[in-house]
Order: sequence, then C-alpha cells, then structure tokens
Amino acid sequence: MDKGLIRKIRRNMSLEEMTSLCSGRTAWETMSYPQFGIESVVMADGPHGIRVEKDEDILGIPGAKEATCFPPAVLTACSWDNDLLAEIAGTIALEARAEGVDLILGPGINIKRSPLCGRNFEYFSEDPFLSGTLGKNFILGAKSMGVGSTVKHFIANNQETHRMTVNEKIDERALREIYLRAFEIAVKGGKPMAVMCSYNSVNGKFVSQNSHFLKKILRDEWHYDSIVVSDWGAVYDRVKGVTAGMDLEMPGNGGVNNKKIFDRIKEGHLKITALNAMTERLIAFSFRAKENRIQYPEIPIIDVKKHHEIAKKAAVESMVLLKNEDKILPINPEKIKKLAVIGCMAFDPRYQGSGSSKINPYRIDEAYDRIKELAEPNIKILPHQGYVHDEVVKQVHLEDEAVELATQSDMALLFMGLPDHYESEGYDRTSLELPAKQISLINKICHVQPNTVVFLSNGGVVDMSWEHKPKAIVEMFLGGQAGGSAIADLIFGKCNFSGKLAETIPMKLEDTPAYINFPGLRDEVIYGESIFVGYRYYDYTKKKVRYPFGYGLSYSTFKYENIEAEPLVLDPEKTIEVKCRVTNTGTVDGKEIVQLYTGKKNTQIIRPLRELRHYEKVFIPAGASVEVSFELSLDDFTYYNPSDKQWEYEGGEHEIYFGTSSRDLPIVNKTIIKEATWRPLTQYSYLGDFEKSERGRIIAKVLFAGFEAAMGLNFDENDAFFMAMIQGSPLRKLIEFSKGIFTEESIEKILDSVNGDDSLDNLTFEDLIITKEKKKGFISSLFSGNQNNSICIQSRIKDIVNSEDAMGILRNHFEEHVFESEFLDIAIKMGVCFDKAQKLIPDDIFSNEKLLLIDRDFKELAKKKK
Ligand code: BGC
Repeated sequence: MDKGLIRKIRRNMSLEEMTSLCSGRTAWETMSYPQFGIESVVMADGPHGIRVEKDEDILGIPGAKEATCFPPAVLTACSWDNDLLAEIAGTIALEARAEGVDLILGPGINIKRSPLCGRNFEYFSEDPFLSGTLGKNFILGAKSMGVGSTVKHFIANNQETHRMTVNEKIDERALREIYLRAFEIAVKGGKPMAVMCSYNSVNGKFVSQNSHFLKKILRDEWHYDSIVVSDWGAVYDRVKGVTAGMDLEMPGNGGVNNKKIFDRIKEGHLKITALNAMTERLIAFSFRAKENRIQYPEIPIIDVKKHHEIAKKAAVESMVLLKNEDKILPINPEKIKKLAVIGCMAFDPRYQGSGSSKINPYRIDEAYDRIKELAEPNIKILPHQGYVHDEVVKQVHLEDEAVELATQSDMALLFMGLPDHYESEGYDRTSLELPAKQISLINKICHVQPNTVVFLSNGGVVDMSWEHKPKAIVEMFLGGQAGGSAIADLIFGKCNFSGKLAETIPMKLEDTPAYINFPGLRDEVIYGESIFVGYRYYDYTKKKVRYPFGYGLSYSTFKYENIEAEPLVLDPEKTIEVKCRVTNTGTVDGKEIVQLYTGKKNTQIIRPLRELRHYEKVFIPAGASVEVSFELSLDDFTYYNPSDKQWEYEGGEHEIYFGTSSRDLPIVNKTIIKEATWRPLTQYSYLGDFEKSERGRIIAKVLFAGFEAAMGLNFDENDAFFMAMIQGSPLRKLIEFSKGIFTEESIEKILDSVNGDDSLDNLTFEDLIITKEKKKGFISSLFSGNQNNSICIQSRIKDIVNSEDAMGILRNHFEEHVFESEFLDIAIKMGVCFDKAQKLIPDDIFSNEKLLLIDRDFKELAKKKK
C-alpha cells in the first residue's frame, strides 16, 4: 500500500469529501470518488454463503439472489478443520466475486457464553482458541480468492436481548482470555479487510465509540491497520466514534452523521487529525478492494454443483455422532429391511438460522430423498411426518400414526429439532427444550422401537433429558443446503463421522455458567462467571455434562499412545515439540481430531483446569498409526494478570494433555518452565511474593532473621497459621506490625534491593532497614544498654521497670495506660534501651522533650543516691 500516495490524495480532498467517506453511499456500498481513484467497496452478508439483495438498497431477508448455503458456523466449527473453513470461505468468495462483492460480512466469531443466545448458530464455539483459529482460516481462505472478510461482532456480542443497548460488565481478565482472545487470533493471523464493531456497550461505553477497544487494543496492541465498520446501526455518537477510530458507519443514511463530523471540525470541537487518519484508512480500504479486483479480474462462472458438493463435504465433516449403542449406525442392510423415517425435518429440513445471514439457496437436499435412494430396493422406507411445527394444532393422530409405523419397522430414524422461530438473530431463547410434541414422540417411539436413532437440527444446543432412550443420537445442527444428503451418506456408512462438539451440551440449563446472569437486568448484564465459560466452568466446578466439549464418536475407534516420557523443559524464549501416537483400531478408515490442552495442577492462581491450545484433524486408515506433533511456546501456558495489565506465566511444572475430548485426555505429559515472570515488587506485594525469586528468598531470610533478633521473638516456620499470616501480609504492613522498626524509607530500601541487581553477598538486616533517620548502628544501639549500674536514659527498659524510684519518675511523665501497653512488654522482653525506644514511639506518647525531662529527673535521682 503506497502510504505516500494515500496521504497525497487525502490532502487534495475537501473537508466535505473526506467526511462523506465516513458512512456508506447505500446499505451495502461505500462512497466513490473517481477523480481520486477511490472506488466503492461492495459488501454482503455473510458467514455461510453470500447474500446479495436483489434490490441493492433494501435491507431485508427476502429477495436475496441465489447462492450456495453452506452449513452455518455452529456446524462447521465441529469439523475442527482449518483447511475446510478456508475452502468454504474461498468458495463463498468466488460467489461474492461473481456478484461484484468485495467484502464478506463474516466470519462471526463471538463466544457462545450462554446456549440461549439466539445467534449462537452464527458463531463457532465456547472456546476462544477454536473460534479464533477457524475465523482466521476463513479470512485467509476468502483472501486467497481475492475477497476481503469482516470479522464480527467486535466485541462481546454474546446475546440478542437488548443487543443494541445492553451494557456488559466484563472483567479485564475475561475480556483478554476469552472475548478478545478469539479476535486477537483472527485479526493477527488473518489480517482481515474489516472489523465490524458490535452494537452493545462494554463497561459503560458503546463499542462504536470506545477507543480502548478500537484504538488501544485493536490498532496499538494488535497492529491492525484496516478499517472498523459499524454493525448495521451500531453508531450512537458518530463524533465520539471518529475520535475512537470507528471508520465507516453502515448502512449509509444520507450523510446525517457525516454532517455532524463536518460541523464539529469547523467549530474546532473535533481534531482534524482524527479525521485525516480515518480518511487515509478508508482510502486504503478502497485500494485494497481495487487491488483484489485487479489481481482477480475474471468474473467466475459459478459451478453450482461443485459448490453443492463442498457444502455437502462441510456437513459430512462436521456432524457429530453423540451416541451409537450396539453400533446401530451405520445401517446394516442385512438386518434392516423396513426403515421408518419420521419427522417433518426429514422432508423439510431446517438447514440455516434466521436473520441477516439467511441465504437463498440454489437447492435443498432432503434427508428423506437420499435415504430412499441409498436404501432401496433392499430396504423398504416407511415415511411419516410425525409432527408439525405449529404449536396450536393438535397432533394426536400424527403421533399415533408415527408410533404405529415405527412399531412395524426394524428401525426408526427420527428427525427432530428446533423450529425456525425458536432461535434467530434479534432474540434469545428462554429454554433449551425441544418442542413438547417432539419430546413426546421420542419417548413414545423409543418405547415401542428399540432401534431408534434421533437426528437433531438446531442452531443452539438443546436439553436432552431423553438421551438414554434412543440407541443413537446425531447432532446435525444446521446442515446447510446439502445437510440432508450428507446425513444420509453418514447413516449408510458411505462416509465416516468425524465431527466433534465445539461447545458443551449441558445436563440442564441451570448448570450453565451464565445461568444467573443471562441476559441481565434490562440494559445491564454482568459477566459474573468471568473466564469460566463453557468447559472451563464445567470442569472447574466438576459438573456432570451431557456431552463434553471436543466430544464426538466415529465408526472407527482410536487409541492414544504417549511418545514423550520425560518432562520437557520449556525455555521461555524458545519452543518445545510435543508428540503422541494415534492408532485407528477400528475396521474402517476415519478421521480423529487430536486435541491438546494445558493446565497447571499446582497453581498459585485461579485458572481453568485445562485450556485448549492446539488441535489437528488427521486421517488415519484402518489399522494405521500416525504421529501428531505440536509446537508449544510460552503463550500456551499464560494467563492475563489484570493488576499488571499483561500476560504472565507461572514457573514450575505444567501439564500437557492429549486426547479425544476435553474430558477424555488419556495422555498427560509434563513440562517445566524455567523461570516465572519476574515483576518488580511493590510496597503492596505480599511477603510470600519474595519466595518467588532467588533474590527475594535471600532478602526475606535476612529480614526475618533480623526482625526476630530485633523483636526478641522466635518465628516457628512450622506454625502454618503464623507463616500464612506472614506470607499473606503486604510488604508495607511491616511498618505497622514492627511498631516502627521499619519505616517508609526502609520499605523503599528493601524494594530497591529486591528489584535491583546489586550483589546480596554480604547483606545484613541493618543494610535493609538503616535509613537516613536511623543512622548506622541504630539497631545495635537499640539493645546495647549503659555500662554503669545506675539508672539513666541509656538503661534498658527491663532494668528501669525493676527500679521503684525510676518507675516513680516515669509515672510522673506517662499516663497509666502506657504502662499496660503491649509495646512495653515487647520492649522489656527484647531488652530495648529507654532512649532508643523514644525514637520508635510516636511523639504524642513519648516526645524528645519528655526524654530530656526524664533525663534531668534520672540524673537528680542518681545524685540523691550518691
Ligand atoms: C448484523 C450483522 C450483519 C448486518 C448486515 C446486522 O443486523 O448484526 O451481522 O452483517 O446486519 O446485514
């Protein structure tokens, strides 16, 4: 990108022209200025197919041109296949180019915080690594075919209830480790052409005018250099948005907000520099689209059939076999002669979600058609609708007929799922239940037909309290236009299952992490579960789940073997390679998704038990073995420390788990990370923090020994309570606890020593606490006492209290309570000298003037005694 040229163009533009770039020309296009070489950029939804409106200025679902409808993200995520995501995106990009579209409004990579979110079907996972990595590959795939992508909705658009106004209270660690993390991976690795900011506000500020997210994190930290586009209608205060770095307002609205930008600049209330930077980004954005068009000049002829096959492959690779008792699937034509196919979704599939992503598909495969094709003539198919979606219509006769049909068959395939209106962009679900009619049908059919398989079509996970009844269950989620034929091929073993859940299926809604905080109260929602989203929560709280994250069966079986025996040592600057061997112990070829998680059993902080760090989908022929290796770096062990505002790691032993789901990790390796992150200690650091470094340990030892001697105490390191008290005290508490031995200055001195690099070889207690006030020798003089026998102010307090005459004098100078104080007991025990005690005691109790008067009285007493 020629930055000089872009600047030159911007300089030649009038203020009016510059502000006109800040919003769309239409609902889907940006402004163009041919005299400056700025062409409009054309955009279209969406993440699972291209949705181009027939009439370019109408926002709405009907009227979209035909396109291939791939499975939505809820299903493709279950493929865990980076190449597949790139292939889908590349295919969508071809269709985009054929329609003159430069920018796809996808992928959506928001985290599935609650299964109730109405738009979960458009998002990949509850895990940020999986979401971010799949998102990245989508972006790269589209880019490889000359089309840009828009990663959305930045950030934390995790619910549809009040999505345009809700303020989300999210702690910094949860933002960094969960909600920002997915975007960080996709933005850094995919370098998308646009980032779409979300409607909601986070911690009190709308994202569309939030410079913390749009500037500090996105641009300064992640070095993102293209534009931020608003979600359609996410702009509130456009002028604030300019300062925050929100470049393009969509859809176009006749320039009402551009005028505000223009006016504020004229009035001097808005800095032109912010607009300059925005204009340059918008020009560069238009140039990127132009470069793509130049590089990929031909208008592709869409091979509808080929794209359909890719959509089918995507569905086959992703559908998840949850249960398969007695290996009831694939269907064995030797045993099954009559097959009931029940449920209206077999004939009228639910294959995508509702809202802005809705595709007008080229064609739709019905599961029933392909099942029939594969079954006949050997197997007779008995079809039945089973239920209708309309909740009002009584269906007793439908249910009875279906049950009767199932009874007459050798096996029943039930196609169930959520009706379209149960979930959509724009609203959330309030329950996880399937429609009651369907649950009743499952129960009744399973009662009469032991060989029943349930196939589910749904955008968000559903309650499966009935799970023990059918012999097998397949989660088809939303299969896209070819989902029907994909499932038929899987049923008959034409292909093998290889999808795994990208989200946990909980036992019940009440178990879900955000249950008590979703969707919040009116316009506010608290992310009380913090980093404990999805399996991070279920694992930490040891909750039973219906099916865990990462889980999915295959017609093959896989055995994991460890290759690493010894713990590996990870140098923070370097990487380590970890491996395992996986064998297909089944009789058919299959694919396994090898997952790697890390955790730390012996942790000092609150952190998830394990977190997904790597995965790979591998094809393994029956009987064969493959070695799978991953390269791990420090990033695979870090957590975000919100106090220090940085990623950190704990030194010591960490676990590396390999396995087939988040709850089935047969291989556990260990790695040792050499040095923990060293952070300078502060006066608020805990005394326990000294134990974390060599310097800290030396200093703590000297401090404790000196303190013990000074106080005449004997610390017992085996006294757990005492040690916990010490370890759990911030450094500066020494000032209060030591009754003055430590001062603010001595705390600074200790900090200088622990954070510095001077040699500690001959370090003494005095080095640490002697300060300007308390000159060298103070500590030893504290206990040195006088050499003669008569009482004087240099005498030890313990000697003074034994002299009645001396005590008589003291009683004239101190109030009674001073003699009962704890300090006096300590001073007596320690052998502290009287004059030195004055230095340690506040002036209002024992001033220097008082000491002089007592000195005079003691001297008179000595004279009298002589
Ligand atoms: C959605 C976006 C979509 C846009 C344009 C909005 O309602 O939230 O995801 O890209 O509309 O259709």
